[in-house]
Amino acid sequence: VSTPDLAGRHVVVSAGGTREPLDPVRFLGNRSSGKQGYALARTAAARGARVTLIEANTGLPDPAGVDVVRVGTAVQLREAVLKSAADADVVVMAAAVADFRPASYAEGKIKKKDGEEPAPIVLVRNPDILAEIGAERARPGQVIVGFAAETDDVLANGRAKLRRKGCDLLVVNEVGERKTFGSEENEAVILAADGGETPVPYGPKEALADTVWDLVVPALGSA
Ligand code: C5P
Repeated sequence: VSTPDLAGRHVVVSAGGTREPLDPVRFLGNRSSGKQGYALARTAAARGARVTLIEANTGLPDPAGVDVVRVGTAVQLREAVLKSAADADVVVMAAAVADFRPASYAEGKIKKKDGEEPAPIVLVRNPDILAEIGAERARPGQVIVGFAAETDDVLANGRAKLRRKGCDLLVVNEVGERKTFGSEENEAVILAADGGETPVPYGPKEALADTVWDLVVPALGSA
């Protein structure tokens, strides 16, 4: 049993990947499994937090003792996060949010027509939820944690992203084969706004989650 160092705290975690519909049967999506976000929710609950898990398209069973909110798209995720963040001590954005969505939605299934070129898919920007909650803390002292998957210049890009999004901690993953997506394990560096840098060796997503909470707890004001 873990130390209840998150007792009395409300923790909001987003998990999974958004899907942006094109028509009733098709969407633009991503490969996020949601497992890291679920590990964060489970470990926060084990450490005594009241946890709201906002999940997008994971298909994973609800963790015990956690309030689960289901969403589909980035716009729905934003609404749910802003609502729960209003009284949250910590918000962790572990979900993979689509940066763009189709500009229009076809009410009927898009059909291929003989001899016609396919129509291009026009995209529009989605809101950046992390940047929004990072810029406007819903409560003083609220701790905000982001995730970033990077393929190169991992630390430099991570530092720049931490500043741009205004978060307190940024968990940076180097993405590549074997690592991260759908896997039970993860490897990361956790960057802190105060310059701190905590490497987390390859291991279970639960271990990375606990290291995140170890860094969050001292950043929280007194309960
Ligand atoms: O910019 P990038 O997508 O790499 O940033 C990743 C971080 O930002 C993650 O924490 C993700 O949940 C969050 N994000 C967001 N809204 C977006 C895109 C990313 O909150 N539209």
